[in-house]
Amino acid sequence: MRNKDMRMKNIIVAPSILSADFANLERDIKKIEHAGADWVHVDVMDGRFVPNITIGAPVVKSIRKTTKMPFDVHLMIIEPIKYVEDFAKAGSDFITIHAEACEDNLDETIDLIKNFGIKAGVSVKPNTPVEVIKKVLHKIDLVLIMTVEPGFGGQSFIRECLPKISEVRELLEKENLNHIYIEIDGGINAETAKLATSAGANALVAGNYIYSAEDIPKAIEALR
Ligand code: DX5
Ligand code: ZN
Repeated sequence: MRNKDMRMKNIIVAPSILSADFANLERDIKKIEHAGADWVHVDVMDGRFVPNITIGAPVVKSIRKTTKMPFDVHLMIIEPIKYVEDFAKAGSDFITIHAEACEDNLDETIDLIKNFGIKAGVSVKPNTPVEVIKKVLHKIDLVLIMTVEPGFGGQSFIRECLPKISEVRELLEKENLNHIYIEIDGGINAETAKLATSAGANALVAGNYIYSAEDIPKAIEALR
């Protein structure tokens, strides 16, 4: 029954602009907005937490003017607590940090995000058990389960991560915390989206699948 319920509920689609043309960010953000996307997923990488460097708060601030869609900012950086203020002031609606990057200050980093009146998310890499987020569940808005090793777009979905989605969904049901989004990121296409939403995910990040589609509205619909 649960699978059917989840498929019927609204599924958030958050295209990742990592796969957009960085010389045409405004055009590519408007493209997904007109195609029916819900959130803009912004991948921030520092070359330390992950082996790749992308964009920082000044770019988020600039593209903030191009759309009213919520900005779902995924910080793949070490010591995210140092940069929460910058990304908050740049216009983020969600700031998601990695549990692995906050071993000593997960609580404080979440509190800081919430103090800016922003929704807080916590992410886990494929090999990190969801256990680490249990103690902060009561104060977050989103759990981001990575289904690829963070760092690059266009990788293949790691199916072994599916049980973690079900585990979090069961936990949220048990604790009566179903308002928390379960977001999945990495290797999402129409087929893997189905697996993820059946396991209990309700927010899907997709970069390559959406931006390489001939018909973006159709691709977004296919994910839902
Ligand atoms: C990976 C990023 C993802 C990535 C998704 O480190 O967090 O958001 O852009 O890209 P696809 O959908 O192409 O796997
Ligand atoms: Zn991401």
